[in-house]
Amino acid sequence: MSKPLKGVILAGGLGTRLKPLTNITNKHLLPVYDQPMIFHPLRKMVEAGIDEIMLVTGGNNAGDFLRLLGDGRSFGIRRLQYTYQKGEGGIAEALGLAEEFCEGHPLLVFLGDNLVFDSLQPFVRQYHQHSRGGMILLKAVENLSAYGVPQFKGERIIKIVEKPKAPPSPYAVIGVYFYDAQVFKIIKTLKPSRRGELEITDVNNHYIRRRQMQYGILQGHWADAGESIDSWFEANVMLQRERRLKK
Ligand code: DAU
Repeated sequence: MSKPLKGVILAGGLGTRLKPLTNITNKHLLPVYDQPMIFHPLRKMVEAGIDEIMLVTGGNNAGDFLRLLGDGRSFGIRRLQYTYQKGEGGIAEALGLAEEFCEGHPLLVFLGDNLVFDSLQPFVRQYHQHSRGGMILLKAVENLSAYGVPQFKGERIIKIVEKPKAPPSPYAVIGVYFYDAQVFKIIKTLKPSRRGELEITDVNNHYIRRRQMQYGILQGHWADAGESIDSWFEANVMLQRERRLKK
């Protein structure tokens, strides 16, 4: 039996694309329809059977997460731990802060501004068939140049291009990633990109080069609520629609 997944939610960064909404609060504390944005990844992880979660945050409002979420028990989380990222050194840098917390377990990483409407359970099962290497999730979308986009050779991904001018496929790599504990070694080898960040796409390309990367394709809606004010607004509408369908 493989070790259970630990969860890591990344909620640092400065949220500059959502200014002025983020002038006095962290992006992930903004509402999305009927709940603060951060509730979404937390609930999705619990629904997928993960009950040990680390939240990485940063900026001036980190204490507000503790006020809002407390020890996480009301969400069904057995162990909720917090850590703080100084500055905005990138998604991979933020993930690196979770190394000790993960204690060699495989992990599910969720970018705190992503909303996923598919259940993650089938993907958790798919990942556990090997519990080695990485797994990314893809969704066909329109505005591909805002995302990481995979390039295929047949059915195999041969690389991911971050924010491409000429997208090599119709899919965005969404902000939900499965990794084994090697990820922390990989992060230590990374160099900052042109935007001065340690990029999660470089981590993923590492696994791809080693031929240790699987992928899954989402059927349901996906939103990156942090991409622009419009995408945040659209995420609100998507969640409202979803709630109505479930009534
Ligand atoms: O949403 C999916 C996309 O997310 C992927 O397609 C891209 O490949 C991936 O690079 C990422 O792109 P973004 O440019 O949208 O990432 P963003 O800077 O918005 O950061 C996403 C989340 O990660 C955000 O909710 C907060 C967290 N974060 C980000 C940075 C830069 C941190 O915790 N620390 C950071 O330093």
